[in-house]
Amino acid sequence: MRVVLGVAGGIAAYKAALVLRLLTEAGHQVTVVPTEAALHFVGVATWEALSGAPVSTQVWDDIPSVRHVRLGQEADLVLVAPATADLMARAAHGLADDLLTTTLLATHAPVVLAPAMHTEMWLHPATVANVALLRERGVTVIEPACGRLTGTDSGPGRLPEPEAIVHEALTVAAGAAARGPVDASGPQPDHLDLAGRHVVVSAGGTREPLDPVRFLGNRSSGKQGYAVAQEAARRGARVTLICANVALPVPAGCDVVPVESALDLHREMNAIVARGGVDVIVMTAAVADFRPAHYAEQKIKKTHGEGDESAPVVELVRNPDILAGLVQDRGVAGTPYIVGFAAETGDETGDVLSHARAKLTRKGCDLLVANKVGISQTFGQDTSTVHLLWPYSEETRTIGPTDKSRIAIAIWDAVVADLP
Ligand code: C5P
Repeated sequence: MRVVLGVAGGIAAYKAALVLRLLTEAGHQVTVVPTEAALHFVGVATWEALSGAPVSTQVWDDIPSVRHVRLGQEADLVLVAPATADLMARAAHGLADDLLTTTLLATHAPVVLAPAMHTEMWLHPATVANVALLRERGVTVIEPACGRLTGTDSGPGRLPEPEAIVHEALTVAAGAAARGPVDASGPQPDHLDLAGRHVVVSAGGTREPLDPVRFLGNRSSGKQGYAVAQEAARRGARVTLICANVALPVPAGCDVVPVESALDLHREMNAIVARGGVDVIVMTAAVADFRPAHYAEQKIKKTHGEGDESAPVVELVRNPDILAGLVQDRGVAGTPYIVGFAAETGDETGDVLSHARAKLTRKGCDLLVANKVGISQTFGQDTSTVHLLWPYSEETRTIGPTDKSRIAIAIWDAVVADLP
């Protein structure tokens, strides 16, 4: 893929060198377009050495190749990291006074901006309005991370980690490629249809400890849950992501609560819901139905007696059904809206869909996302096929086979249609 990596003038420009590295190592052809100000922080030599291509900031270099429009026209993705308040203001108002802003105007490729600045600048009404305008036009503006800033102060405004930026940008580019050529005439109509909503997503698979080194687990990778969280953040939701043992870069703009076991997930979910204000819960996580009845404080040892080939018997007890509990606890109020997942294999008593329909009734949630699982089916894969089921309709909607980010889009389209 041809990527233009724009770098604006902020101290976080040094982190863009890592972003560049990750992109080139993944095989992408990257042209770096720094602003003049960016070169105060990291010089041309670094960008040229790491990208293997000449670098310029100006529209006046290499006039015969009409670089100021060609770069944008030929790009499959334009990523700006860091995007300063000034760069976003210029982009929002269509200024074209250097190579990066002309590229932003000339491109039809997806544009991803990763802002970094002091909290005051990020929260200033001018920046807030510019970000809103850019998002309305279909630009992806990643939420900055919260944490230590340049001086001793801290707050929102930190550049997200390079891995998270690259992951987000490549997901956006893959989604755009899957959707086909974009209609450049205007914004996507429902772009921010989760703005003002608080969404809680669980992702991954729980681990039920047996002793200090062993656990009972499952094959969930967390890919689908992360895609669901990422899509919610892109649509403007405040996202809390409870993740159980996921080894993926955290999607930008999500508050992450790490957990290990089903009991941890139960405790954290209940604490978040008890604080109030949750609009939607999506239980994507594969939660263990059972856990060992006893936890051994020391590692369980093999017996070594003469002729003693015995093995311990692990007694299991049931875990709380978190999803069913959430539905029960919300009572007649009907909020939050709750989405369950069902990983089914089908058996002699019924196929995936009949098991899913029974599960929807048992759990009482508002939408059930069912899929067929097997050792190399769904779990850990980038693509899947799911069926959406509603309690108020006999209809079943099938999505896929397609990538998990497209499935996340379909799930949120369905949820948004049901929200008050
Ligand atoms: O009963 P089953 O495990 O098939 O249900 C799957 C759905 O229920 C998923 O949404 C999962 O997150 C949720 N679940 C739960 N608590 C459990 C088991 C599953 O919330 N103990």
